[in-house]
Amino acid sequence: MADNKGRFVVFEGLDGSGKTTALEGLIEKIKKEDPDRKIFQTREPSDGEVGRLIRKALTKQIVLEPKTFTLLFAADRYEHIVNEVKPAIERGEDVFCDRYYFSNLAYQGDVASRDMILSFNRPARDLITPDVVFFVDTPPEECMRRIHKGRDQEELFERVDKLKITERFYKEAFESLKDVEHIYILDGTLTPDQIVEKMFDILSDIA
Ligand code: TMP
Repeated sequence: MADNKGRFVVFEGLDGSGKTTALEGLIEKIKKEDPDRKIFQTREPSDGEVGRLIRKALTKQIVLEPKTFTLLFAADRYEHIVNEVKPAIERGEDVFCDRYYFSNLAYQGDVASRDMILSFNRPARDLITPDVVFFVDTPPEECMRRIHKGRDQEELFERVDKLKITERFYKEAFESLKDVEHIYILDGTLTPDQIVEKMFDILSDIA
């Protein structure tokens, strides 16, 4: 890029969709093709103080009011963008982020309106816009099958009814944001290698 800044690449999808596997596979492929490219892998909820509090609620160690939870995701996001994402972009690193505010719109779509959630996320969105958003589109039933295969303990949102409504909110959010965000929807039933290949080609086009 002419200004030597890194790219901000976001990965979205339901729990069990395969988005994290795709993100990690893509990093591996890019590193193989271009060993000098620096990539900062990160995630939301973040590993900061607010993110840790959120993870306690996700693993059912604490119970929070749904609107508190919604606000906390946005607060964590602001901390994460200011303290980790922006500095990495400024250093010229690509940031590959597992979830961003689209997750807030999708998972908390049953708690607050889209406009309200967008306004909660305004501080972060005013600072940065993703260069690319990848959505790994995997049917909720398949996500649940993969979650059950991987482990015994379910997190808060890992139920098929919740994933179905979350999928609907994701798609509505993407439709409403299609003129302002660069969203690419990938078929999550393809093999991980096929998904990575497609992501790689899309990123290469905007390099
Ligand atoms: P993970 O499965 O990618 O680690 O995400 C943790 C959970 O947090 C997942 O169930 C989705 C949820 N989540 C929200 O509900 N709202 C948000 O804004 C974010 C970032 C995650």
